[in-house]
Amino acid sequence: MSELRLTNLTEELAPQCAALELAAFPHADPSELLGVEDIRAYARTFPEGFFVVLDGDRVVGQGAGIFLDFDFEHPQHTISEITGEHQCGNHNPEGAWYYGTDMATHPDYRRRGIGHMLYEARKDFVRRNNKRGIIAGGHMPGFAAHRHQMSTAEYMEKVRNGVLYDPTLSFQMENGFRIVTLLKGYLSDEITGGDSALIVWDNPDFAAAAAC
Ligand SMILES: CC(C)(COP(=O)(O)OP(=O)(O)OC[C@H]1O[C@@H](n2cnc3c(N)ncnc32)[C@H](O)[C@@H]1OP(=O)(O)O)[C@@H](O)C(=O)NCCC(=O)NCCS
Repeated sequence: MSELRLTNLTEELAPQCAALELAAFPHADPSELLGVEDIRAYARTFPEGFFVVLDGDRVVGQGAGIFLDFDFEHPQHTISEITGEHQCGNHNPEGAWYYGTDMATHPDYRRRGIGHMLYEARKDFVRRNNKRGIIAGGHMPGFAAHRHQMSTAEYMEKVRNGVLYDPTLSFQMENGFRIVTLLKGYLSDEITGGDSALIVWDNPDFAAAAAC
């Protein structure tokens, strides 16, 4: 493995990024994953929010997101309705939050700190843009081993309390995220029935504009 390098999305990387999606989310409905055309649209809309990790010329990790406003009084939503066309159509440069639309490390490259590197890049980006923080729908792939014993809500609580370990949700908590609530039917997923955890990282440096 050569030196890992962090960069931003370009249209040329789109086919590789789409292939990484399929490799990273084997249980997802491919129509809900980012395809080549979606990623090309992302590259034209908001490449600054789409981080890519390269090993030489090979895409081995990616973390994408858009700016938007979020109503915590009504948190229920699905991935497609909140992100819009090509999962970036609802990008609003003035939005208060960075909404994470995608996070994936190639299975051959996991547990080497690539996910952490991507989260650090996102946090740095959010700080530089003085946004309130990061919001995402966190997958719970580890639910597969517990689906006959408990509900997704019970599973999420056990992960939150550290009783159970989930390869995705526990990793996000390790990266400073808090679990807000369960998102019912967030996406198509044969393991969880689509349920995901709404997770938030609060930017400690956020400064609200002074009132005039
Ligand atoms: C979730 C995901 C992005 C994490 O990516 P990753 O590159 O493996 O992340 P990291 O290497 O930074 O961290 C993963 C774990 O490896 C550990 N780790 C990191 N470097 C390590 C090293 N050198 N040696 C041993 N462990 C290491 C981390 O501490 C972390 O442990 P934790 O889960 O207990 O916190 C990846 O598993 C993935 O793509 N999953 C499928 C898609 C998915 O669910 N995406 C998230 C959608 S919400």
